[in-house]
Amino acid sequence: MHRKEESGETGVPWRPRIVAFFCNWCTYTAADLAGVSRMKYAPNTRIIRVMCSGRIDPQFVLDAFTEGADGVLIGGCHPGDCHYSEGNYKALRRYHLLRRVLTGMGIDERRFRLEWISASEGDKVKQVINEMVEQLQQLGPLDLPTERMRLDSELEEMRPRRSVIDISEELKEAAHV
Ligand code: FES
Repeated sequence: MHRKEESGETGVPWRPRIVAFFCNWCTYTAADLAGVSRMKYAPNTRIIRVMCSGRIDPQFVLDAFTEGADGVLIGGCHPGDCHYSEGNYKALRRYHLLRRVLTGMGIDERRFRLEWISASEGDKVKQVINEMVEQLQQLGPLDLPTERMRLDSELEEMRPRRSVIDISEELKEAAHV
């Protein structure tokens, strides 16, 4: 079902879906702390625990978007605090690369965010998630199939206007030279 219909037909206001990949040692613990401290953040966030932000394969992010996420958030230890020494630096490099890939796919880069959040920063988890929800609400649902169709038709327009027959005629001619 189309995402807009989903909210329109039921009368339930549309809420963005966020997939959050959080490092076990810092951001995941901070999210736990936020929960225990009863800090309110948007409930429409699915948190996935990973052992380190460096463990997040770019494919995880692409899969989250293609499976219906409107935004993806990565949370890792502050620079210098990674339990595996340089995992978060690896995550940062991938993040910059992925943003460019996502833009190429027609996905607004504001839908993808990386934050360093330590285990004691429960309030930051709340703040970042709420900010992201606000941002996604402004951007609206990520309608990936429609976006793909738009890109396909753009590609179609960019194609040279020569038919297959024209090309085969040229090949025949070239063979006789
Ligand atoms: S252990 Fe947290 S980012 Fe590496």
